[in-house]
Amino acid sequence: MEQTFLMVKPDGVQRSLIGEIVSRFERKGFQLVGAKLMVVTQELAEQHYGEHKERPFFGELVDFITSGPVFAMVWEGENVIAAARQMMGTTNPKDAAVATIRGDFAMTVGKNIIHGSDSLESAEREVALFFKDEELVASNKVI
Ligand code: CMP
Repeated sequence: MEQTFLMVKPDGVQRSLIGEIVSRFERKGFQLVGAKLMVVTQELAEQHYGEHKERPFFGELVDFITSGPVFAMVWEGENVIAAARQMMGTTNPKDAAVATIRGDFAMTVGKNIIHGSDSLESAEREVALFFKDEELVASNKVI
């Protein structure tokens, strides 16, 4: 089953939005198979955002993601990567539709509440970067 990596960023944790965000994905019908509150190290941040290394905002991005606790999650379900991106809204909250997470809760591109993998390759890479195999359950569905 398809998996994606989602992370409530420091602004979302500070604003007590973990419950709201988890609830949206639960209500949609996706399965939470891993989650932890953690502080991202400089090294992990640089690896995670490696593709943005040459961007002018790279330093700002790393500083922000390491500035406080994040809530890292792995979600599972059919088409979950694309569906989660739709539910998050566009990267820049100014363009994000109402009823998306960024449309409802964020105002600036730097502080956009949540990160979500943008492809199957990034999902696999990001899940492996943040979680050990033993931190994930096979499925949280009650049999
Ligand atoms: P995210 O999905 O975590 O992936 C890369 C992040 O870079 C993105 O969300 C934005 O928060 C951030 N970002 C993109 N453009 C800018 C920008 N111009 N200034 C600061 N941060 C940016």
